[in-house]
Amino acid sequence: MRQTSLPKDLFVPAGPLFYPCCGDDTLHPLSLLLDRISEFHFADVAGVHLPNSNPLAKGYFVSSQQKIDQEYVSVHCPLGDIGYIAVPVNKIIQTWTVQASKQQDVKVVYHQLDGMLALLQLPEIAVFYYRGDSRDQGGSGQSWLGEVLFSLVLEKLLDRGLLITDGSNFCTDSANVPWKNLWTHADCRLTDDLAMPDDFTCLNRYFSCVSRVGNYYGPVYVWQVTQIEELD
Ligand SMILES: C[S@@+](CC[C@H](N)C(=O)[O-])C[C@H]1O[C@@H](n2cnc3c(N)ncnc32)[C@H](O)[C@@H]1O
Repeated sequence: MRQTSLPKDLFVPAGPLFYPCCGDDTLHPLSLLLDRISEFHFADVAGVHLPNSNPLAKGYFVSSQQKIDQEYVSVHCPLGDIGYIAVPVNKIIQTWTVQASKQQDVKVVYHQLDGMLALLQLPEIAVFYYRGDSRDQGGSGQSWLGEVLFSLVLEKLLDRGLLITDGSNFCTDSANVPWKNLWTHADCRLTDDLAMPDDFTCLNRYFSCVSRVGNYYGPVYVWQVTQIEELD
């Protein structure tokens, strides 16, 4: 199965997309979700290559405005009893007019910051997008599918929000965690005949693999995460 777009009837809650350790990989999430998401947050400690300089993006966007924010904010840290930490805000905010639909503006925010510190600043997200990362030289080594950061992602993810990932950089210490289906085919290069990974339930949520949107460090799957109501 080779699908590169999302199912038309897929519900996506209203909220931003967040992609940590994104490097230059901004065009795919933008083009995939342009018609469903109006705020995209990309975080990388080095540079982010926003698509205004990517010739492929010319069919999608007309750049309109840019502003730079520099200050600091205090955010609550989920680790131990640290409490609040001061996070430098160094972000470039661009507003794009989408060429296909003259009505629609898309806000693209680039946080030049550690991925976790960037996510701590967002009250909620509708989509968590993460692919193409590793523990090798040049990779972040940040365990977004490991216990601590994955819990943070779920805490921020709205009900029926999406996880879009190729399962890259999963933590080998987490080989048996209940969400291991997220990296069923991580690092598989021969991907044409692969069956979709199985749905699963954990952490009071139902994870349903609803689509596959291309290949990266293995197939990139889209999971919809539905909260399960707790019974009294
Ligand atoms: C292997 S590259 C992957 C880039 C992108 N995901 C892709 O597929 O093209 C890893 C990226 O993580 C960034 N990085 C490293 N440590 C980071 C951190 N703690 N927080 C955010 N970004 C980080 C690097 O600057 C680099 O751009």
